[in-house]
Amino acid sequence: MRLPSSIYNWLSITGFIVVFNSLILMLFIHVFTLLYNNHSSYLDVYIYVILPLSLVLGVILILCGMYIRIKKDRKGNPKERNLPVIDFNEKPDQIIMAKIGTITVIFLIASFLGSYKAYLYTNSSEFCGELCHNTMKPEYTTYLNSSHAKVSCMGCHAGEGAGWFVQSRLSIVGMAYSMFTNNFPRPIPASAETLRPDRKTCENCHWPQKFYTRKLLNQVSYLADSANTEWNISLLLKLGPKNTARGLKEGIHWHINPDVRIEYSPTNESREIIPWIRYTNLKTGVVKIFTNPEQLPAAKNEDPDKILTMDCMDCHNRPSHLFLSAPDFIDHALSAGILSPQLPYIKKAAMEALKQAFETTASAREYIPKSICNFYSIGHKEIWKSRKDLIEASARKIVQEYEKNNFPEMKVDASCYPSHLGHMESNGCFRCHSGKHITKSGELIPSNCNLCHSIIEQGSSANFNFTNLKDTLEFVHPVPLKKGAANKACSDCHKALYN
Ligand code: HEC
Ligand code: HEC
Ligand code: HEC
Ligand code: HEC
Ligand code: HEC
Ligand code: HEC
Repeated sequence: MRLPSSIYNWLSITGFIVVFNSLILMLFIHVFTLLYNNHSSYLDVYIYVILPLSLVLGVILILCGMYIRIKKDRKGNPKERNLPVIDFNEKPDQIIMAKIGTITVIFLIASFLGSYKAYLYTNSSEFCGELCHNTMKPEYTTYLNSSHAKVSCMGCHAGEGAGWFVQSRLSIVGMAYSMFTNNFPRPIPASAETLRPDRKTCENCHWPQKFYTRKLLNQVSYLADSANTEWNISLLLKLGPKNTARGLKEGIHWHINPDVRIEYSPTNESREIIPWIRYTNLKTGVVKIFTNPEQLPAAKNEDPDKILTMDCMDCHNRPSHLFLSAPDFIDHALSAGILSPQLPYIKKAAMEALKQAFETTASAREYIPKSICNFYSIGHKEIWKSRKDLIEASARKIVQEYEKNNFPEMKVDASCYPSHLGHMESNGCFRCHSGKHITKSGELIPSNCNLCHSIIEQGSSANFNFTNLKDTLEFVHPVPLKKGAANKACSDCHKALYN
């Protein structure tokens, strides 16, 4: 097949070399990835993102070269026509057209398959999690430990429809740019508009009309004493009514009842302080505005500027990236048997070691075992002598648990992304159920301890109490608190209990 003469120029020839090399590399890497299933996701970036881009660049170079050449030729001889004349009655022309047609079909099929693969690939969690390894490490690590480890990142972070598709791909380009220029905030702000999932996305899998009734939650914690005293509490969470047929009419999931709209205005992006709330009953038209006079100066009681509508994420803000605080991940490790509660003072020793803030993971790896060993070898010599091996093994386990929840390089730990589900380490539900949010007519948002859950069991093995599912125990704090502490919110102490 004879190529048009305009193609013989340096720009087009360079284009040809680029196209040829990209195709060979694509083929080569593709065969390689088929042979090695466990290949790095960087290779996928080459096959599906970088090489196709260079292929397109090559084609552009070829066309540009031809265009410039044709323009130049025309200048010398303006009357000459450069476009080829095709005559379908001529055999050579038929052959050329058949060849061009075949190449076009192959190219179209290949680019269709390629873009489909690229679509699947940019949708995968490996793309988001492993590629941007350092940046996304905190979110990816916690994601792999969550109930949603099999839901892809895009399964939550991209909504439905073409608009979301374009937005998510644009935000990928934006993120890639800020990563290459190393210009992104550490930690990444939680409520960044593009990262907050759409309520509809959750509802694809969690069908709202089929919401749950009550749920028993069993919590085990360990006190920082010599015996690591185990403290149990079982709560019956009033997620919905006793009888599912009543739907979303009452209980915790009442907030997402389609007949109810709750709007609020936080003081800043983190939504930790909410001085203003408006409840509208869409069926009856009843409207109530609650404000917290302590947080909101009386003069500003009018409608604020920025009003948000409450959705799943106002409670479930950590469905996939839950960073546990030191007391929580040590409690988990103790009840999972990763650490032995039989080792006296292990909770206390861990709390001592972990109250330190670290600049790098390497410094944590060095400091934590040293601190644990010093705790015993200096303060508890007898235990150190008899249990040295167990202490050293425990210290290594504590570092491992630390690394699942703390990412000093990204300045990420539990305190920068508090969970709003509950009220222990952040104000969570108490941001609104504070007992201080009140309407002008004096109506409070309820906040009594039985509103959201009843306590079915509580206590240590030495002093354990329980009741039946219809009843509730009165909450007993595991250790006696000083007078005056009763007026404090749980999170006032618990957000930094051992520091
Ligand atoms: C179950 C749904 C879900 C999945 C799956 C999910 N995320 Fe998230 N992600 C969220 C929610 C909810 C937020 C917090 C939004 C807020 O607080 O406003 C969030 C926040 C983030 C943030 C902002 C920083 C932070 O921790 O708040 C990043 C970055 C992020 N996700 C990355 C990822 C990556 C990477 C994956 C896949 C490995 C992923 N997400 C999978 C729901 C999800
Ligand atoms: C693609 C489907 C899918 C999507 C989308 C999804 N989830 Fe889930 N979610 C699941 C599955 C499956 C489970 C059950 C996992 C299990 O039982 O271990 C689950 C469990 C849960 C649980 C209970 C377990 C836990 O971790 O506390 C909550 C709460 C939850 N999802 C909230 C959400 C929220 C909020 C969103 C939206 C940001 C969301 N989910 C989006 C599939 C999904
Ligand atoms: C007012 C706060 C609040 C809102 C709003 C909310 N939830 Fe929940 N949800 C909870 C609490 C509290 C639990 C129980 C937590 C636990 O299991 O530890 C829960 C539990 C769940 C569970 C697990 C149920 C089970 O039996 O394990 C799913 C799934 C869930 N929510 C999905 C959603 C979705 C989807 C939305 C939005 C359409 C939503 N929730 C809105 C507070 C809320
Ligand atoms: C943005 C503010 C806000 C947040 C956050 C919030 N609530 Fe509410 N909640 C309200 C308002 C407003 C009412 C209705 C008060 C009324 O009817 O006067 C309410 C009512 C309730 C009710 C009573 C529902 C019924 O049966 O009538 C329960 C239970 C409840 N909330 C639980 C929770 C739990 C659990 C959380 C945290 C996981 C939470 N809420 C977080 C604003 C909030
Ligand atoms: C507005 C709803 C609401 C109110 C009011 C409320 N709680 Fe809770 N509480 C929750 C939710 C939701 C959780 C569970 C969070 C989770 O899923 O881990 C919780 C968890 C707890 C836990 C278990 C904590 C843990 O992690 O070990 C205790 C104990 C508790 N509440 C005690 C109380 C006491 C005492 C009061 C009264 C001062 C109270 N609660 C008022 C919603 C509420
Ligand atoms: C004045 C500070 C203070 C307040 C307020 C407070 N606590 Fe505690 N809490 C403590 C201390 C101190 C411990 C004991 C820690 C230890 O010995 O390891 C503790 C331990 C606990 C434990 C068992 C261990 C653990 O870490 O989970 C639970 C459960 C608990 N508190 C629940 C609550 C609840 C629920 C509230 C709010 C109703 C609350 N606390 C309010 C100081 C406080």
